Amino acid sequence: MSEQLGLTADEVLATTRAVRRRLDLSRQVAPEVVLECLALAQQAPNANGEEAWRFIVVTDPGRRSAIAAQYRRAWDLYEAEEGNAHTREREDPDEARRWDKQVRSARYLTDNLEKVPVFVIPCVSPRVEGESTPTQSALWASILPASWSFMLAARARGLGTCWTTGHLFAEREVAQILDIPYDDVMQVGLIPVAYTKGTDFRPAERAPLDTIVYWDAWGQKRSW
Ligand SMILES: Cc1cc2nc3c(=O)[nH]c(=O)nc-3n(C[C@H](O)[C@H](O)[C@H](O)COP(=O)(O)O)c2cc1C
Repeated sequence: MSEQLGLTADEVLATTRAVRRRLDLSRQVAPEVVLECLALAQQAPNANGEEAWRFIVVTDPGRRSAIAAQYRRAWDLYEAEEGNAHTREREDPDEARRWDKQVRSARYLTDNLEKVPVFVIPCVSPRVEGESTPTQSALWASILPASWSFMLAARARGLGTCWTTGHLFAEREVAQILDIPYDDVMQVGLIPVAYTKGTDFRPAERAPLDTIVYWDAWGQKRSW
């Protein structure tokens, strides 16, 4: 068993942040630690117990660099089309500041992705395109809880991660780089993994709970 930070389950749940600038790009991650986190991820629920999930751990510098180039290309397009629109929409100065900080942080990751020592790419099969809503839901739910478990297990061990989907705009190209049979297997994200600079992460600001929780019927607030 690898070394852990000694956080409680609640602390891990409350402080597993999207880590980008605080990824320690100079420190290697032992494959055993990644495997330990993936073994925990495997305990997540999955439809019919079929374990249709696959996790590609990418450490090879050449492949990381090729994937990072695709990620950058996709992110540049996204930023040009969507990013500016989002910035314009944010009139509240606090919200605009938060958004700018996030965009700068995302840009940092984009510019430094190939230096992150480990990528984990969760995949599921079959692809969701053309499937019914229940089947799509089953497929997403057979990979996303496991992926989040992986990220929580990583945090408990002092590793930082960030759920990213930017490379999916170039999913076919990345499938080629990793020999993934694209027609049968869908990549759902890319998790950069590295030790963090410092381990003191805080809970994020979120909307007040009563604005997102309804009781007994849509829109109904708790009245007792
Ligand atoms: C569906 C989804 C897609 C995301 N895609 C990206 C991405 O492509 N690149 C990135 O840097 N962060 C990405 N993120 C991370 C979010 O920006 C981050 O979770 C959010 O800002 C909240 O920060 P927190 O997780 O630290 O609370 C994504 C998160 C989710 C849930």
